[in-house]
Amino acid sequence: MALFTTPIIIFSFLFSPFFDISTDAKFSEQFAEATTNSPHRTAEKTTHLHFYFHDIVSGPHPTAVTVAGTKNKFGATAVIDDPLTENPDPGSKVVGRAQGIYATSSKDTVSLLMVLNFVFVEGVYNGSALSVLGRNRFLEPVRELPVLGGTGIFRFARGYALAKTVTFDVGTGDAVVEYNVFVLHH
Ligand SMILES: *[C@@H]1O[C@H](CO)[C@@H](O)[C@H](O)[C@H]1NC(C)=O
Repeated sequence: MALFTTPIIIFSFLFSPFFDISTDAKFSEQFAEATTNSPHRTAEKTTHLHFYFHDIVSGPHPTAVTVAGTKNKFGATAVIDDPLTENPDPGSKVVGRAQGIYATSSKDTVSLLMVLNFVFVEGVYNGSALSVLGRNRFLEPVRELPVLGGTGIFRFARGYALAKTVTFDVGTGDAVVEYNVFVLHH
């Protein structure tokens, strides 16, 4: 991550036996539908999205840049425009981008405030977005972030995202994070 480029011991938590969620490459699945009693509301769907978030700090084209504060210190703030791909490989199909801000919002610097839009380009989701606002204790094996809303196909969205670090390069600060997002929407 953009805010952490010095060595941090985080490899032991990368693979947790708990929360082991699907790691297949499928980007989306809609697995439930429920109608409400009110005639004024449309059917509600549940969608599961699965993708990989690439936080690129190093090299000539970083997708995460520190814009305020000091790296590794309380208050460090980064703006990101990170590609979201179908597989952990950064060269795999791009399904969207994560655009927003994260900042170290705890004095012990192990927790981030994340304010993000996941903006999708894949299939029927092209042009639709989900808004995430949450606390990311990034040393935990799996972090849960609330999804507060959405646009396009995701109007009225609410749900949660599970974030799990796949790789973190302690030399560069580059990170790949697996996301599983579950949302109810109209
Ligand atoms: C997404 O929509 C835009 C604008 O309508 C279009 O230019 C683009 O080709 C679409 N992308 C994909 C991957 O379908």
